[in-house]
Amino acid sequence: MKILSVSLLCLGLLGATGVSQAAGNCTISLKGDDAMKFDLKTATVSAACSSITVELTHAGKLPAAAMGHNVVISATKDMDAIARDGIKAGVANNYVTKGDARVIAATTLVGGGEKIKVSFPGKKLTAGGDYTFFCSFPGHSMLMKGKLTVTK
Ligand code: CO
Repeated sequence: MKILSVSLLCLGLLGATGVSQAAGNCTISLKGDDAMKFDLKTATVSAACSSITVELTHAGKLPAAAMGHNVVISATKDMDAIARDGIKAGVANNYVTKGDARVIAATTLVGGGEKIKVSFPGKKLTAGGDYTFFCSFPGHSMLMKGKLTVTK
């Protein structure tokens, strides 16, 4: 009986940990650098978050004109087209087409030493969906991209 109680307690603790992690996954925090890389290849957020915040820190030294970074979130299947159209939209639009319905969220462009963040409602994501975060600066999405896992 004592063993059973301990097991139940452990399950209870595991359950509590799972819940607190889900509730905490409302922020995506990325670092970009002068080597055209994000520090993360994957990130996880919860679709239950009333608001999800995307934070980007450019830890490099190069200016935005040479090594600009942003974070765009979209369905994985839309990434290439968004990046292509973003090049046409140009630097004045942070390499994101204005009003592009395929873009779930996008920060503006930053250069070395700068930070930016943007928030969007978790309900714009579907748990289990196939999403990607990437930088839409011309040529960067080849390397600067990662999988965004969305939990309930
Ligand atoms: Co970039």
